[in-house]
Amino acid sequence: MFYWRYAVAAFFLFAGLASWLAVGLSSSQEKPLQKEVATSLPKSFSVHIRTPEGPPMVKTAHADPQGKPVFVRCATCHAVNEPNRTAHSSEELKAFHQGLKYQHGKLTCVSCHHEKDYDSLRGADNRTIPFSNVMELCSQCHGPQARDYAHGAHGGMTGYWDLTKGPRTRNNCIDCHDPHHPAYPKVQPVFPPKDRFPPAVHTGGHP
Ligand code: HEC
Ligand code: HEC
Ligand code: HEC
Ligand code: HEC
Repeated sequence: MFYWRYAVAAFFLFAGLASWLAVGLSSSQEKPLQKEVATSLPKSFSVHIRTPEGPPMVKTAHADPQGKPVFVRCATCHAVNEPNRTAHSSEELKAFHQGLKYQHGKLTCVSCHHEKDYDSLRGADNRTIPFSNVMELCSQCHGPQARDYAHGAHGGMTGYWDLTKGPRTRNNCIDCHDPHHPAYPKVQPVFPPKDRFPPAVHTGGHP
């Protein structure tokens, strides 16, 4: 509805401009302008954002007949486990997931993991968010960084700035930040490295 108006407006603007140019140029040029406009429109390549495949899984001690380790879904245990709504540190986990490194403000585990469906993440309005859309989760709380990401000032990219030249690939928030301990360690400034090729000291006579 909303977009149609723009599409129609853009069409008339374009058509008007094209016919005006056509009238202006038809006398001086032999080439039909329609054709020229069509071929001169730049081709635009796509922007691809890397996404995790889906819900993470837990490796078990069992192996399948081919010898490959067996993985189980989170919901395998959590569909029957009573969720712990207050856990917000790894020290509180005694029965499973010991050793999980966790430091993310004072967030409880279920502020991100959906207590009704552990194979999904949890939105602020309690809806489920698939793991592949994890950036939506992060962006709810980190608006400034999400905005910076959207216009390319945060998060980096590989490929082309100019999308008429080639495609672009962008990182996911969790390519760089571990969701469980997202902060980057503070970097201390240090002395510059020693010069590998110091100016020769003349002591009189080369070997
Ligand atoms: C083998 C069973 C098992 C599997 C598989 C499993 N969990 Fe758990 N999980 C547990 C148990 C048991 C606890 C409670 C630990 C405690 O409180 O000491 C727990 C606790 C948690 C908690 C803390 C909140 C709560 O409900 O206690 C989160 C979040 C969690 N698991 C996420 C996951 C995710 C995500 C996966 C999939 C990658 C997963 N779990 C797979 C058994 C499992
Ligand atoms: C800020 C959101 C957030 C919070 C808070 C959070 N998680 Fe997670 N968790 C995630 C995301 C996103 C993934 C998927 C990571 C991936 O795909 O690499 C994940 C993956 C997991 C996994 C499976 C992979 C792994 O790292 O072992 C377990 C288990 C898990 N979380 C448990 C917990 C527990 C327990 C807590 C609380 C102590 C917790 N999470 C708190 C977002 C969160
Ligand atoms: C429910 C809200 C919430 C969600 C969802 C969330 N965060 Fe956070 N995040 C916080 C809070 C609160 C802090 C702690 C801020 C502080 O300590 O000053 C934090 C801290 C951080 C920091 C460290 C900031 C610093 O200055 O040290 C990073 C990086 C970060 N989060 C990234 C992420 C990423 C990536 C995700 C998605 C996987 C995510 N967050 C999801 C609320 C959230
Ligand atoms: C290419 C890696 C990369 C990606 C992708 C990335 N970040 Fe960061 N982010 C960083 C680095 C590095 C810092 C630390 C900057 C510093 O310490 O000055 C940072 C800092 C942060 C901080 C701390 C506050 C700040 O601005 O210093 C937050 C919050 C954050 N990122 C959230 C996000 C979110 C949300 C996303 C996804 C939309 C994201 N980041 C994607 C590398 C990345």
